[in-house]
Amino acid sequence: MSDPVIQCQQLSKSYQEAGSQVSVLKGVNLSLEQGETLSIVGSSGSGKSTLLHILGTLDGATDGSLKIKGIEVDKLSRAKQADFRNRHMGFIYQFHHLLMDFSALENVAMPLLIAGKSKVEAKQIAAQMLEKVGLAHRVDHRPSELSGGERQRVAIARALVTKPSLVLADEPTGNLDKHNALKIYELLNELNQEFDTSFVVVTHDLELAEKLGRVVQLDDGVLVEYQGANGVKHA
Ligand SMILES: Nc1ncnc2c1ncn2[C@@H]1O[C@H](COP(=O)(O)OP(=O)(O)O)[C@@H](O)[C@H]1O
Ligand SMILES: [Mg+2]
Repeated sequence: MSDPVIQCQQLSKSYQEAGSQVSVLKGVNLSLEQGETLSIVGSSGSGKSTLLHILGTLDGATDGSLKIKGIEVDKLSRAKQADFRNRHMGFIYQFHHLLMDFSALENVAMPLLIAGKSKVEAKQIAAQMLEKVGLAHRVDHRPSELSGGERQRVAIARALVTKPSLVLADEPTGNLDKHNALKIYELLNELNQEFDTSFVVVTHDLELAEKLGRVVQLDDGVLVEYQGANGVKHA
């Protein structure tokens, strides 16, 4: 059996603020198998983005252990972490973070160019991924010429184009109406089925959260299994 895609134990994170220490994460434990999908819910300020940044090696934990695909990513150099991210992880944000002066195709091709693929090959693979997210007819459009839902689809195609094991998404539908948000979740599930990509998605919308395989809640700095409106049970 392959290593879990995420394995973390007793992750903690505190910030030093005005001389006093603020503990945001207080011992997060999480194990996610390859191909599993997970929603993280929790009130505003509960540390969801902080946790996602740490899982994505974009920020360091104060304490605890973290393995992504069996690798202790927090112990790698910054350069090796960047390489690991490019190879194995994708990121989706609330605001698409697309490059506005580039077409959808060029935006999606970018991670492949960074990974060293030729321009021709990068554009070919990017076009296929745009087709998968339903945007074959929009490849030459710039972000300003696309709807909010379409921009998020481009952002999803960009996150998936290198066939990462793990995609981390922070409120990816926070900017969309319910109809478009639901369609994005359908798309994530389709891509999960097709590529066995694991998704970890932060959302404050419980109905959307339940579209993924598992739901956990950040509650006072620890993760607990979400049990619907009836209360919580420790993970
Ligand atoms: N760089 C930082 N320095 C100090 N405090 C921070 C920093 N980043 C986040 N925090 C604090 O950590 C807490 C959790 O923030 P965040 O992870 O953004 O929560 P969420 O995404 O759940 O809304 C908040 O109280 C926030 O003010
Ligand atoms: Mg946040």
